[in-house]
Amino acid sequence: MSRSRPVVALDGPAGAGKSSVAQQVARALGFVLVDTGALYRGLALAASERGVSWDDGLALGRLAAELKLGFHATESGPRLTLDGVDREDAIRTLSMGDGASRVSRHPEVREALLGIQRALGSDGGVVLEGRDIGTVVFPDAEVKIFLTASAAERAKRRVMDLRARGQEANLEEVLSGIVERDTRDSTRPVAPLTAAADAVHVDTTGLSFEEVVAKVVGLVRERMS
Ligand code: DC
Repeated sequence: MSRSRPVVALDGPAGAGKSSVAQQVARALGFVLVDTGALYRGLALAASERGVSWDDGLALGRLAAELKLGFHATESGPRLTLDGVDREDAIRTLSMGDGASRVSRHPEVREALLGIQRALGSDGGVVLEGRDIGTVVFPDAEVKIFLTASAAERAKRRVMDLRARGQEANLEEVLSGIVERDTRDSTRPVAPLTAAADAVHVDTTGLSFEEVVAKVVGLVRERMS
């Protein structure tokens, strides 16, 4: 079925700048923003609070099906809710980033979160940010972008982001975490992090934030004209 406004799939590795770019692009176009990584982080958080292991795919799949994961709109952008409670701050830690990467390996988890992601984007006029949006969640997305940057650049940005949130962050530790997470995300058997064959690659190393946003907005407008 055709949509009147496009689905924009914005995929790429951790720290490529997806979140801030997706937020600004959605704002510029008047589109809804869906940060799909937040759903995996929310599941990792719920599991850790309920004593469910990040390695237990079956139990995680059941938990994901039971939980009410969603977003509520605020002036600063959408924030994750877990069973109706705002948990945005609790999911934005290094530990929950690691947990999200671990829980996202399980096919049961990916299956359980697929329906939520599709429901959030099906009307179009939406920017979905993640790892497998253009390949699995919306293979028919009208615009597919794969955002990358060197690991060193991504680590630098993550450290700045964590410090801005008042958290301690060590560059070397963050860099080795990113390399480890890239390997895990891109080598898992189910929905690995890979660019869709028809995705446009945008390497953000050395580009300013504004340049990246302008490039992505330009690509979307091109497809809409
Ligand atoms: O973008 P992020 O750092 O919030 O994502 C956290 C983890 O969630 C990431 O390491 C892999 C996983 N993830 C995924 O597997 N598929 C998505 N569409 C989004 C995130």
